[in-house]
Order: sequence, then C-alpha cells, then structure tokens
Amino acid sequence: MYTASTILFTILISSSTSASYSVADDAYPSPYTAGMPPCDLDDVSGSQTPVRREVYDDGRIIDISHRYHPDMPSWLLDDGLGQFLRLPASMKNGSRSNVSEMKLVTHTGTHVDAPGHMIDEYFDAGFDVDTLDLHVLNGPALLVDVPRDSNITAEVMKSLNIPKGVKRVLFRTLNTDRRLMWQKQFDTSYVGFLKDGAQWLKDNTDIKLVGIDYLSVAAFVDSVATHRVFFKSRVSHLAMLIKNLFRKTV
Ligand SMILES: *[C@@H]1O[C@H](CO)[C@@H](O)[C@H](O)[C@H]1NC(C)=O
Ligand SMILES: *[C@@H]1O[C@H](CO)[C@@H](O)[C@H](O)[C@H]1NC(C)=O
Ligand SMILES: *[C@@H]1O[C@H](CO)[C@@H](O)[C@H](O)[C@H]1NC(C)=O
Repeated sequence: MYTASTILFTILISSSTSASYSVADDAYPSPYTAGMPPCDLDDVSGSQTPVRREVYDDGRIIDISHRYHPDMPSWLLDDGLGQFLRLPASMKNGSRSNVSEMKLVTHTGTHVDAPGHMIDEYFDAGFDVDTLDLHVLNGPALLVDVPRDSNITAEVMKSLNIPKGVKRVLFRTLNTDRRLMWQKQFDTSYVGFLKDGAQWLKDNTDIKLVGIDYLSVAAFVDSVATHRVFFKSRVSHLAMLIKNLFRKTV
C-alpha cells in the first residue's frame, strides 16, 4: 500500500564542532510547551507559542525534519541526545544579541549520510554531504507503508510494487507505530533494510533517495553490508544514497 505525496525536502545538515561545553542552558523556552495558542512574531505577548508550520502550499512542501530535543534518541545511547544547545550571549544578560551554540553528532535526528560514511576510500576521496545532488534531495516523493511484520527484504521490496520512474521513497514502518523517534532510549530492534532489500532496490527500481522513520536506513543486524550496497549504487547509478528522513507526526 502506498500513498503518493509530494514532498519537497528541506534538509538541515548540522556539523559538530570541537568546542566543549560544560554549561547547560535552560534559557530556551520549551518547544513542547503545551496548551498555548500559537502566535506570529507581530503579537508576541509572552503567553503564546510561535507558529511552527510543517505543511506549505497544500502539501507541496512538507517539513519532515524532527525537532532536535535533549530527549530524542541518539545512536546506541540510553539517555538520548542530551544537552546540545546553549546561549553563550543573551540579551537578557546584557549582550547585544542572542547567540546560540550547538554541538551534536551529525547523525542526530533527521539527517543524510555522506557516501564516505561506511566506505573509507570514499571518505578519503572527499565524498562528503556536499557532493550530494540537490536535484535528488528535493522533489516529489512517494510515502510507502511497508508490512509491519518484517524488516525490508527483497521479498518486501518486490511486494510493494513501486512503479518504475519513482525516484524518492519514504518508507513508513513499524518504527512509526512504535513511536521510536519519541523514545529517548536507542532501540536496536528498529525496522530497516536488510542487504538483500537494498540490493533488490538497486537492481529493480529507479529509486535514488531512500528515507526511513528511525536513525538508520539499514537494520541493526545488517548495518554495514546494507549501507555499502546503497553507497556503492551511488557510483554505479550516478545516484546517491540518502537516508533518515523522518516523519515528525504520525
Ligand atoms: C545570565 O547570567 C547569570 C549569571 O551569570 C546566569 O546564571 C544565567 O544563566 C545567565 N542567563 C542566560 C540566559 O545566559
Ligand atoms: C534572547 O534570549 C532570551 C534568553 O536570554 C530569550 O528569552 C529571548 O526570547 C531571546 N530573544 C530572541 C529574539 O530570540
Ligand atoms: C528487524 O531487525 C531487527 C534486528 O536488526 C530485529 O530486532 C527486529 O525484530 C526485526 N523486525 C521485524 C519486524 O522483523
């Protein structure tokens, strides 16, 4: 079963810095402050929360990025992302402006993998995220629901009957039903591609962009082999691998 939706990806790629932080900062209002009416900048009264839009132009653009939050899951960690944002200069403390500082792993939340992520020669040759093609990263995408009783194998891929010509597919899985992106403890049992599913996709479809609803497009048990199939197909297909585009809401 699949649902066609047109999605323009806005991909925010964060980079970590080498700075270290000891100061936690709670000066930020909680993004999850509940029960307040939304407002625009023109009518800030202090008792309202800003408007945050996810859908634009009747669905032509959908922001599928997750909000960074200290309690969001982080690869292999039990306690989530933790404090990643601080306000070293703040107007409330006499600075001319508010200046934020972020430090977080580049695989946090909604992110894209660079081809060099699991193939060292690509890394050495300089294939970073800057080498990805924006034509592939942006444009209409198909949202596909996969069977909930399996990881994404060749058999599952075949059963989805994704039409030829479709270039971008977001796979919605059991991960969304289990709300894994809302649990701070990392869960290795998430659903992802197995190697034969990736190989089938490479051999039988025109898909150049793959998105999934947890921290890795590859199932935990088959992580490196699956990634390598996707990364290598970037070269043989002159395409690229994208992963980890999550839906913010169910
Ligand atoms: C302002 O400075 C005080 C005293 O140094 C500090 O406790 C507080 O956290 C600072 N607040 C912000 C928003 O930077
Ligand atoms: C500046 O930072 C303060 C916290 O010190 C915050 O209350 C205020 O909303 C910030 N202003 C802007 C324009 O972001
Ligand atoms: C998917 O694979 C993971 C291991 O990577 C496993 O724990 C999980 O049970 C599998 N999920 C399904 C639905 O088969």
